[in-house]
Amino acid sequence: MEQKDKKVLCIGLVCLDIISVVDKYPEEDTDSRCVSQRWQRGGNASNSCTVLSLLGSSCAFMGSLCAGPVASFILEDFQKLNIDMSLVSEHAQCVTPTSLVISSSSTGSRTILHINRNVPDVTAEDFSKVELRHFKWIHWEGRNVDEQLKMIQQVARHNAALPWQQRITISVEIEKPREPLYELFAYGDVVFVSKDVARHLGFHTPQSALEGLRCRVKVGAVLICAWAEKGADALAPDGLFIHSDAFPPERLIDTLGAGDTFNAAVIHKLSNGARLEEALTFGCRVAGGKCGFHGYGGIADMVTRQE
Ligand code: ADP
Ligand code: FRU
Repeated sequence: MEQKDKKVLCIGLVCLDIISVVDKYPEEDTDSRCVSQRWQRGGNASNSCTVLSLLGSSCAFMGSLCAGPVASFILEDFQKLNIDMSLVSEHAQCVTPTSLVISSSSTGSRTILHINRNVPDVTAEDFSKVELRHFKWIHWEGRNVDEQLKMIQQVARHNAALPWQQRITISVEIEKPREPLYELFAYGDVVFVSKDVARHLGFHTPQSALEGLRCRVKVGAVLICAWAEKGADALAPDGLFIHSDAFPPERLIDTLGAGDTFNAAVIHKLSNGARLEEALTFGCRVAGGKCGFHGYGGIADMVTRQE
């Protein structure tokens, strides 16, 4: 199979987002009306698949799904977007992880209350059944690190037997400020670190975060830090720093999943051979545009308009 015909695989969470759009963020212990309410498929890896697919990348999702009407809603939505679901494992006895999201139209802020009662993450054993030759890029949303490191080792072994043009690129996302996740820094060819993690580690700008965290990534890796309205910065394999400004929409409407959108847009470009600079700018353009409308549906139109 030629590299261009292979897919991008994203491994991580899928959940239900119940989104209430409000004019103004409510005060505690008040009873107010919201502008609208909707269900949306959520979860970082799942959102990134949505965006990859809208951008025209052929992709697959690997994660856990429960049973029942919520799971059917999620499944149908994946199918609508042509996202390969063959690696999803069903856990009929589990409850679908759910986020209640308050999305404020006046600021674009998103406040998330998430619960995951009992859904297990993908294990290295699940992963050992994946036909790696079908993929050109595998992205892990940092979660169950011990298992994820074993999966990454499987890919490294697979890669070792191949010429570099046929190797699978490994990317990881370190989004939550949780110490165990930081082990992933050393294992990605491309590492996405969030501003939340950067701040938690004492950095106040994306540039200082890259300076401070570059010692944690492997030699030749790309380290990327997105920072909302400041855009995003990256450390290139040759050690140079790259910056893209943000592309703010006319009005900030919905920032839910901006980071997942950014990651997907960068992966889309890099996995199709673009240079890091171009990928970073594209990531900011797509993520910024996404903040100007609800959900992800507008992404395809936005990209068509820009071409
Ligand atoms: P997360 O959703 O993980 O918190 P960020 O807030 O860092 O992610 O946003 C990711 C990307 O989305 C940024 O690099 C930027 O390009 C875009 N973005 C997010 N918020 C804004 C904003 N307020 N204005 C313009 N672009 C934004
Ligand atoms: C956005 C998101 C939501 C989900 C939450 C989980 O980045 O993936 O879709 O509810 O984060 O933390």
